[in-house]
Amino acid sequence: MELTLDRKSPFEVQADALIVLEFEEQSSLPKGYEPMREAGELKGKLKEFALLHHVPGYKAHRILVAGAGMKKSFHSSDLRTVIAASVRFLKARHLGKASLVLPEDLSTPEHVSAASEGAILGDFECDRLKSDHAEDTPLASFHIVVDGGGDNLEAGLKRGRILAESQNFARALGNEPANLLTPTILADRAQAMARETGLGFEVLDEARMRELGMGALLGVSQGSAEPPAMIVLRYEPKHPAAGKPKLGLVGKGVTFDTGGISIKPADKMDQMKFDMCGAAAVIGAMRAIALLEPSIPVIGVCPSVENMLGPKAQRPGDIVTSLSGKTIEVLNTDAEGRLILADALTYAQQLGCTHLVDAATLTGAVVVALGHHHTGMFSTDDALLERWKHATESEGEPMWRLPLGAEYREQLKSGYADMGNIGGRDGGAITAAMFLKEFAGETPWIHLDIAGTAWNEKSKPHMAEGGTGVLVRSFVTLAVNWRD
Ligand code: BES
Ligand code: MN
Ligand code: ZN
Repeated sequence: MELTLDRKSPFEVQADALIVLEFEEQSSLPKGYEPMREAGELKGKLKEFALLHHVPGYKAHRILVAGAGMKKSFHSSDLRTVIAASVRFLKARHLGKASLVLPEDLSTPEHVSAASEGAILGDFECDRLKSDHAEDTPLASFHIVVDGGGDNLEAGLKRGRILAESQNFARALGNEPANLLTPTILADRAQAMARETGLGFEVLDEARMRELGMGALLGVSQGSAEPPAMIVLRYEPKHPAAGKPKLGLVGKGVTFDTGGISIKPADKMDQMKFDMCGAAAVIGAMRAIALLEPSIPVIGVCPSVENMLGPKAQRPGDIVTSLSGKTIEVLNTDAEGRLILADALTYAQQLGCTHLVDAATLTGAVVVALGHHHTGMFSTDDALLERWKHATESEGEPMWRLPLGAEYREQLKSGYADMGNIGGRDGGAITAAMFLKEFAGETPWIHLDIAGTAWNEKSKPHMAEGGTGVLVRSFVTLAVNWRD
């Protein structure tokens, strides 16, 4: 998609449609159209659209009046959503050349970034494997017009493009079916991206993992014909300072989760191809980090396996020894995410990470607790959590903190090993987090359970169905805004 920024009068813009924001307290309807407000046809509410044809005085063929809500509480995240919905509205009408007039008070790098993100995210469709692309006209161009406005707007455009393309990269990985995206192929995709962006790349194969002692991960992967992969992506700033923090992003990469011997029911099992969305978020974020060059070093660690059942699969009751040395009784083979993350968290510490953030489609219980809007968030470190909250708020990715506490650790007790891998139905998202905490140890750590937020079952006005790419933007902002 062609993405450009220009300073000129909105009347001069050539486009299939010129998007104009319509606020509840402040109308920007073209002259002569005020009666639409007076009649109550338009109120400036979010998700409201009106397409006006041949508006006198404008060179654009159409004006798309896009409801934007209350101006006084309008956040750049709202702009991202309004633009994404506008773009999808236009695409559905086969209008491929869109422009946006940014009002002068919204002409900041932050808003230019959000508008660019909205255009690229709204344009994304998962039709790679469909024969007929006729229903989806990709947006040919998105043009942002500012009338006056501040400095550094080009930087906002560049940032927006990098963030949104990286998020779409993560979404596309999430949408790939498990027959076409095995752990080996996921590693190949990460490697190709690393080559393009100059990131360091490494993958540990099964033999190496055995040598190191990653028994928790290997127990999960032994039931599959597909070999596992521990994917490592490294970003080093140009002027690294010694003794400084090193951020570790860890993402669950289960390319398909049947549940193993503790098999899942058939209904909606197809959705378990998305069980690698934590890894996809990390890989997508590492792409943007490579391109935006923050001053903190970042390591992405993605343990990837397929959780299958068969003659070689691990059994309920099996006891495995993790990389940390702790033994685990596998009471339910469907609680596999925490097993592979256990070894990945230990490994990330061995690689020198001083701060850890993990992302995982970890529990159905978090979906019961929080539904599909808030990501479940757990942390052992208030300072790291503060940084993280700033990043998620500025990126408009809602999170809700759930507790960690020794009381919950009781539920993980095992009669035969250091711990079991399940804690029963009650507080299932919390006991999963408590399990991971054993492996994060003293290192400041955040765990993000994205089981409810990593995919859209149905398309939304601003977003296609499938992978959402949640956390990509927040991860990047955490790294980019990191100050000691
Ligand atoms: N990948 C699933 C979690 C999941 C479930 C994500 C539903 C999205 C929707 C995870 O591996 C899993 O199976 N968790 C179990 C844990 C249980 C056995 C303790 C669960 O949540 O049922
Ligand atoms: Mn599972
Ligand atoms: Zn899983």
